[in-house]
Amino acid sequence: MVMTANKTEDNIQPALPYKRVMLKMSGEVLMGPQEFGLHADTVQRVAQDIKEVVDLGVEVCVVVGAGNIFRGVSGAATGMDRTTADYMGMLGIVINALALQNALENLEVQTRVQSGIRMDSICEPYIRRKAMRHMQKGRVVIFAAGTGNPYFTSDTAGALRASEMDCDAIFKGSKVDGVYSADPEKDPSAVRFDRISYIDVLTKDLRVMDATAISLARENNIPIIIFSVKEKGNFAQVVQSRGSYTIVTNK
Ligand code: GTP
Repeated sequence: MVMTANKTEDNIQPALPYKRVMLKMSGEVLMGPQEFGLHADTVQRVAQDIKEVVDLGVEVCVVVGAGNIFRGVSGAATGMDRTTADYMGMLGIVINALALQNALENLEVQTRVQSGIRMDSICEPYIRRKAMRHMQKGRVVIFAAGTGNPYFTSDTAGALRASEMDCDAIFKGSKVDGVYSADPEKDPSAVRFDRISYIDVLTKDLRVMDATAISLARENNIPIIIFSVKEKGNFAQVVQSRGSYTIVTNK
């Protein structure tokens, strides 16, 4: 008999399609119903969602944005020097990463925060091989401070770290449950794609992630799964290929 399952003592579970995944979330997710900042219950709920995936035996790393604290692009739009604004955004990401680390540790999930900009009193510096070892030991690695460089978004940081970590997929936690032909909040006739190619996302300007992130994922052949991170427990469902989502691949 061909076994396509992970056998445990008491039960046989279907094999999971992903061994190591990147969760990319915007900072706005962490503000919950608030206008800005961190909403404690939402941060804890997101941590619980991550724990469920870790408990499935999947290695998880996380990249968050900082839109709930400071947006580099809007800072630049108000006349601030773009580089300074981007560094402020990266510091916002560190705040979000520490909040998420704290929430995960409340649930007794082992975590490590690694920053793309050195701030050794606060967290580890980004060291690829160390991050890999942490994940192999079942720790959730939260990558902070984006790529550590201005002019790059946290989406790009997500695609970059996912490539460096050999992730099997990028899970992009969004407000909606996938990629639609039009904005589903404005156009009731909008339809959700089950599967779409990187090229279509780029040429149709579907704004799943920014173009640099999509190109990087494409070059490294890492599927991007867009799902709603607003629903409790949805991350674990989608990791098991259940529920509604859109998968972006080469075909
Ligand atoms: P292994 O020994 O490989 O299992 O990993 P480890 O992370 O447990 O070992 P390490 O001794 O490197 O780290 C122990 C603790 O110190 C962990 O909580 C790390 O996150 C933390 N740590 C390690 N390096 C740094 C650093 O440069 N800055 C800060 N702030 N913490 C660090």
